[in-house]
Amino acid sequence: MGKTITAFQCNQCGTEAARWVGQCPGCGAWNTLEELVKRSLDKKADRYANYAGVLSLVQSLAAVKIGGEVRLSSGLSELDRVLGGGLVAGSVVLIGGNPGIGKSTLLLQALAAMGAAQQGRVLYVTGEESLEQISLRAQRLDLKAAQVRLLADTLVERALAVAQQERPQVMVVDSIQTLYSEQLQSAPGTVTQVRESAAQLLRYAKQSGVAVILVGHVTKEGALAGPRVLEHMVDTVLYFEGDGGERLRVLRAVKNRFGAVNELGVFAMTERGLREVSNPSAIFLSRGKEAVPGSAVTVIREGSRPLLVEVQALVDDSHLTNPRRVTVGLEPNRLAMLLAILHRHGAVMPGAQDVFVNVVGGVRVNETGADLAILAAIVSSLRDRPLDQDLVLFGEVGLTGEIRPVPSGEERLAAAVKHGFKKAILPEANRPRRSLKELNIIPVNRLTEVLAALKG
Ligand code: TYD
Ligand code: MG
Repeated sequence: MGKTITAFQCNQCGTEAARWVGQCPGCGAWNTLEELVKRSLDKKADRYANYAGVLSLVQSLAAVKIGGEVRLSSGLSELDRVLGGGLVAGSVVLIGGNPGIGKSTLLLQALAAMGAAQQGRVLYVTGEESLEQISLRAQRLDLKAAQVRLLADTLVERALAVAQQERPQVMVVDSIQTLYSEQLQSAPGTVTQVRESAAQLLRYAKQSGVAVILVGHVTKEGALAGPRVLEHMVDTVLYFEGDGGERLRVLRAVKNRFGAVNELGVFAMTERGLREVSNPSAIFLSRGKEAVPGSAVTVIREGSRPLLVEVQALVDDSHLTNPRRVTVGLEPNRLAMLLAILHRHGAVMPGAQDVFVNVVGGVRVNETGADLAILAAIVSSLRDRPLDQDLVLFGEVGLTGEIRPVPSGEERLAAAVKHGFKKAILPEANRPRRSLKELNIIPVNRLTEVLAALKG
């Protein structure tokens, strides 16, 4: 064993320094150095000599025995789907989100449902709220609280000692930033503490088979505090998002060792807690009866199900020398690119005008399939002419003005039919093999064809 040495590491760029300094020598950020405990390696040449016989540890991949993967239902089907079909025993899930978004509410509801459904116990460790506060919330939400075991503590060693005696099936830690380990001197919430606490919980989960859920706060920069180290350590990373004001909340998987990423779960925050929304398209599409300019509907694919969302655009005369290009729920660069394509290949130019684009309902569109709908909404607002109410569009727009196919075209069409759409503009290559009698399909290859089709 080498001797223990103390070093410091920048929590932004990872540069190490032997002593604490105010400014990171690597990236120049201030006050970012954190204590780091590590062991120096023995420099002796025969330092592997103690490991004779290790060859017996290696196995052929084909010969590895697989125990059946045990999945626990969380009691909330939207949460189960985002997890890839339920909680995996021994896995560690991190749920990140802004303060007040509803992480504690979600987990308390899930724990109560699990506790009521299963024989096993569930343990809720809180470092943020008092036991009375949690109990009041549970009462207000009318939860079956009998099986939920509560612990208010911030020392990770003590929490784990309790867990070892309680033997829960599921353990929630709310939040990982409030925990600290007595093995370190730094304050709770620092990277070192967050990483150490998470490492101990991880080890416990793997050894005991208990599913551990960690709540993590998102910092102002949007990264989970404790510079993304947690994301690498845990099995699954979920983000709970939504505008503070809006009732809709979207749970998104960004990493999942046990399922697909980009899976979405949708909830609505009510006076009685979070309610699952099993047909979210109905909410994202709650438009008025009358057709208005600047609104287009597209089908995006998030995880295992297609989702119909409305895209709105507003093109208005600008009083600024640099007209504004504002997006909500969409990458701003995507809008800049689409406007350039529209100008170059469609001779449509909102030059001295502000352009705002909004994806309704607080959804974030990360895929290119929404391109056509964004274009159509902009053109509709620019011409001040509404699109047909029963028109749906999807497809990617390329820099040369070509319309490119997107994955799972038929599923998107099926979803559109289900919601009563009668007309679809889509890439030629996505045209279904069989014609659909419910849907008038307009296949397009070039931007000019799209603009012609929109003129009607
Ligand atoms: P909470 O779960 O405490 O958020 P987090 O743990 O992510 O910080 O949720 C707090 C918010 O949710 C608070 O602003 C009030 C709202 N809320 C409701 O609207 N209805 C409810 O039944 C509950 C419990 C909370
Ligand atoms: Mg909370």
